[in-house]
Amino acid sequence: MPRFKLSRPASLADAFNRVSLILTLAVVTATLYRHHLHNAADPYKCDALINHGQWLDSPDREPEHKPFTSWQPPGCMLHEYTAEEVASCNDGGKILFVGDTGTRQVFWAAARKLDKNWVFKEQAQLNTHGDIEYCKASACLKFLWDPWLNTSALHDELRVFRARQDPEATSAPKSVPGLNMGTRRSVAILIGGGLWHARHIQIGSLRFFQDSVNNITASAYSPGTMASIRNIPISGKEGIHDQIFFAAVLEPQYEKLSPSRQLTIIPEKINEMNDYLEQLSLHQGLNVLWSYADMTRGIPETYGESGLHVIENVAGRMAEVLLNLRCNAKAAYQDGYPFDRTCCSNYRPTNWIQLLGILFALVILPIIAIKAERGMSSATSRVRFDKIVRQRSSSLSVNVTASIPLAFLTLLLAVCFCFLTDRTQIFDKVRKQYTVLDFRYLITLAVVSCLLTIRGSPSSLGRRRSDSFPGLEVQQAFLPRSQSEEFKGWMQMYVLIYGYTGASGELDFYQVLRVFLALYLFLSGYGHTMYFLQKRDYSLQRLVTVLLRMNTLAVFLSFMMARPYTSYYFPPLVSFWFVVVYATLRIANSRNESLPFIIGKVITSALFTSVFIHLKGILELISFGLDIACRANLNVDEWRFQLGTDKYIVYVGMLAAIFYIRISTILNTPYPRQSTFGQTLTRSFPLIRFLALFLSIITIPIFWILTRRSHDKADYNWWMPTISWLPVLSFVVLRNATRFLRNYYCAAFSWLGRISLETYLLSQHIWMAGDGHGILRSGLFKGDGTIKNDRWRDLALLTPIYIWLAWRVYAATATITAWVMMAGEEGLRPQDAAKATHVRAGSALAFLGYDNALPSPNTQGDMKAGMEKKTGKYDTPPDLRRRLVPIGVVLWIANLLYI
Ligand SMILES: *[C@@H]1O[C@H](CO)[C@@H](O)[C@H](O)[C@H]1NC(C)=O
Repeated sequence: MPRFKLSRPASLADAFNRVSLILTLAVVTATLYRHHLHNAADPYKCDALINHGQWLDSPDREPEHKPFTSWQPPGCMLHEYTAEEVASCNDGGKILFVGDTGTRQVFWAAARKLDKNWVFKEQAQLNTHGDIEYCKASACLKFLWDPWLNTSALHDELRVFRARQDPEATSAPKSVPGLNMGTRRSVAILIGGGLWHARHIQIGSLRFFQDSVNNITASAYSPGTMASIRNIPISGKEGIHDQIFFAAVLEPQYEKLSPSRQLTIIPEKINEMNDYLEQLSLHQGLNVLWSYADMTRGIPETYGESGLHVIENVAGRMAEVLLNLRCNAKAAYQDGYPFDRTCCSNYRPTNWIQLLGILFALVILPIIAIKAERGMSSATSRVRFDKIVRQRSSSLSVNVTASIPLAFLTLLLAVCFCFLTDRTQIFDKVRKQYTVLDFRYLITLAVVSCLLTIRGSPSSLGRRRSDSFPGLEVQQAFLPRSQSEEFKGWMQMYVLIYGYTGASGELDFYQVLRVFLALYLFLSGYGHTMYFLQKRDYSLQRLVTVLLRMNTLAVFLSFMMARPYTSYYFPPLVSFWFVVVYATLRIANSRNESLPFIIGKVITSALFTSVFIHLKGILELISFGLDIACRANLNVDEWRFQLGTDKYIVYVGMLAAIFYIRISTILNTPYPRQSTFGQTLTRSFPLIRFLALFLSIITIPIFWILTRRSHDKADYNWWMPTISWLPVLSFVVLRNATRFLRNYYCAAFSWLGRISLETYLLSQHIWMAGDGHGILRSGLFKGDGTIKNDRWRDLALLTPIYIWLAWRVYAATATITAWVMMAGEEGLRPQDAAKATHVRAGSALAFLGYDNALPSPNTQGDMKAGMEKKTGKYDTPPDLRRRLVPIGVVLWIANLLYI
């Protein structure tokens, strides 16, 4: 791994590196060992789903929510199936439920996924003992009323099932989709009974039950072919193939039973029957869903009035377990991303690009890196001996050559780590479980870590303007870089906590999230505009540098994780808006000095972008083009929503930058030389400031009160484009209200804000998991699933690794970007690149107390400045295009060939 040659300030970074590296290795080793030890017998977590589980939301834990919606099998994520997903899993077949009222409840629960109203109506007019069928599109469910488990209808179904298992038997009735139910193949059969045996047969109920079960297995399986699904290798389109599952005989809540039932339904009978099922499952491979028993054992709240049946939510989770068992592997194979259903599922087979990535990360790049390192040390020693005058620059240029393989290695290792955690079954993935308390804990932690690292702004020292107009305070720039990064850090922190705790169901928190996202886009609009207007650099280099910085990691990840690039959301979004800002300011940029002209441009651009986003057909055309050109599929509706929700806030950021530059120019001109307007402005500036502050102070509560009135996300989202600038501007104004507030900032968040792109992307895989839908766990700890008692251990273990990797990847991306932009031109440029990397690496830990020892981290600016010196103008050297074209071609081909 990287060897860092950093001077005093970075020794802390060095320590961070070492500790994190050791921690990473330790966690990976321990997890591999645990996986090998415990999970070898159950590599796909089918056993886990069939046999175990716990409630994450039992009523004692969260009285304010409806309990029993969150069932957690050990170490894997349960998926909530929708009607379409059931249809695609059925594949022209049906899911068959056979048995008594208990099984029928599971049937109802599954049917509720297809059509709630139908279930409601049907339950009202139910003839109690009959078969039921329901199809919605091709999602078909069938229930056979058979409490004794001995009807001929059941045995007919079983014979069809058996014939399909045995391909030799040509007489097998073929499954014909679309015809009546009887000829639809059963992709899964759930059989559950036993209570009638206990209730209606006084003596020898067990024997009757045994006979029923034995007859079923005899009909369904040729001798010796019954196999537990834990022994079935999951592969290919059909996943675990068609299966029969037995429900464990549900233990009623004996105290609640009616007196007549109490007489005959007694624990001994139920236990005997379950013992028999256990025998069969242990010795013959019968698939018995013991997790059903786990759902109710010792939890009286899971039963309804009768004491015999479970409540709706519990039945719903029972249906979920069945669907997950049968469909997860199939869906993972067919649909791929998102991989958020990890129970009883295999990931797709590793494709050649992933293999190539792993090969490079583990073999080729380490060799190259070591060679480069050797080359470097010999070169530096030669330099030392020769005492050449150009010593410094040459050692630096060697340094960057050495750091390129290292940067690629870092990036690839990080991406491979993502693969290990989120595309193999080695690490555990669990459901998110939202509780207010968890959310508050984590937010408090964040606030404390902010308060502990408040520092004076680096640029505030020394750059005090000698006042030309007494009483006017214009020292620290408005919204300095450290502060905008701090804002980004806040938003990143919020996004992470929001994601980790699964707060997306809470409207309040969602509203805050949207404000933060708008704030982020505002800041990037502001930042880019400031850069362009101040440096007047509209070169291709600038465009490419920023785009590479934003997208390198996302592109690597999307290849390695077999996930569409656009699904990473953030990089495409900020790239889009960056290009918009670039185009807006670049067109006729010689006239940007003119205020009316530039404002006109911004407004025109906003109109154009709105049309681009909303006019039906444009995004569709682009999506179609992308599909043909690179087989990339763009979810048009999703992107129309994402772009549309924040469509004006970037322009607000642009205008803020334009006006800020204007006003500060005027205020910085000595008073006598100002125009009349300037003098008026200068004189009334305190008043304007006061007004702005006042408006900001009242805007935030008003905004908050008004948004209380929208009762769902859709309504709020509709308002968002037009009102999001209110809280955003207010926050920014308030944050800059006084000199004190401007001069201090929270270094930890500023640091986090700088690496926010990386933390966002990596969080999807190595902190959360299942493409951000679940939470990653090492599996080394067992507990009740709350953050407070249980998950904090994994949080404490995995968070440092995660943050560390994000930081390393950030530095690596910077190096790679610098390399792409500069290599080929010897001398000054690699040196700048090296400086850039060092500055980044060093200042990255600035919040730990070495703030002022380092120059401002605006490395892109530094690099650019270097280039300006060299070329003197902005046109693109042919070299850059020659470098970009191959990259584009490689990506394009890889995309076309990607499975
Ligand atoms: C199923 O078993 C029950 C109880 O033994 C019996 O009354 C019924 O006749 C049986 N039904 C069939 C179709 O064999």
